[in-house]
Amino acid sequence: MNKIIAPSLLSADLAFLYSEIEMLNGSEADWVHLDIMDSSFVSNISFGFMFTKYVKKYAYKPIDIHLMILEPERYIEQLRDCGADHVHVHYEACIHLNRTVFSIKEHGMKVGVAINPHTPVFLLQEIIKYLDFVLLMSVNPGFGGQKFINQTYKKLEETKDLILKKDSSALIEVDGGINLENAYSLFKNGADILVAGTAIFSNSNPKKIIHKMKELT
Ligand code: DX5
Ligand code: ZN
Repeated sequence: MNKIIAPSLLSADLAFLYSEIEMLNGSEADWVHLDIMDSSFVSNISFGFMFTKYVKKYAYKPIDIHLMILEPERYIEQLRDCGADHVHVHYEACIHLNRTVFSIKEHGMKVGVAINPHTPVFLLQEIIKYLDFVLLMSVNPGFGGQKFINQTYKKLEETKDLILKKDSSALIEVDGGINLENAYSLFKNGADILVAGTAIFSNSNPKKIIHKMKELT
């Protein structure tokens, strides 16, 4: 399978949202990653459904939503209506994870479960079979521009093993602190999808960074 690059708009200049989306449309980026936060699950607020709707209106690429919110099950219908293609919920934020995962699928979207850096991979053993994606957080969620946590490599290994053991077809997505220095080894160690914000949008030539990341695949 071709490896996927999903730029995170969290680090984009949102005063120029349309041109940032146009840049992504004209780039080799595969998806657009949107980080929705509620100030409770994480101590930050980003953007929400209205924002998602406008991104969907202009972006030609699948919209990959990372929900950093409590009780995400309350918003599944709204997410479907504003054009989400993939929805990731946090393991730590869902009391009835099985029900939430199936509800996202029943609403016609692909589903991923995200785990924080401290959350062990084995906790996904009963759900991984039903997932399209496992999202490994390689920073503590809530902010862009943080340093990659190296322990993620071990979790990548454990996730690959669990996928095999449980006969799951989930793809592994890694999110946080990803740049041109670590992207190659992450792909090599089993990541299928890399999310990158700062490394792409803080560069004066974001298309070139995306191109270089794709070249590593
Ligand atoms: C962090 C978000 C990430 C973030 C990544 O909570 O989930 O998607 O935007 O940004 P960088 O690449 O700057 O770590
Ligand atoms: Zn994210």
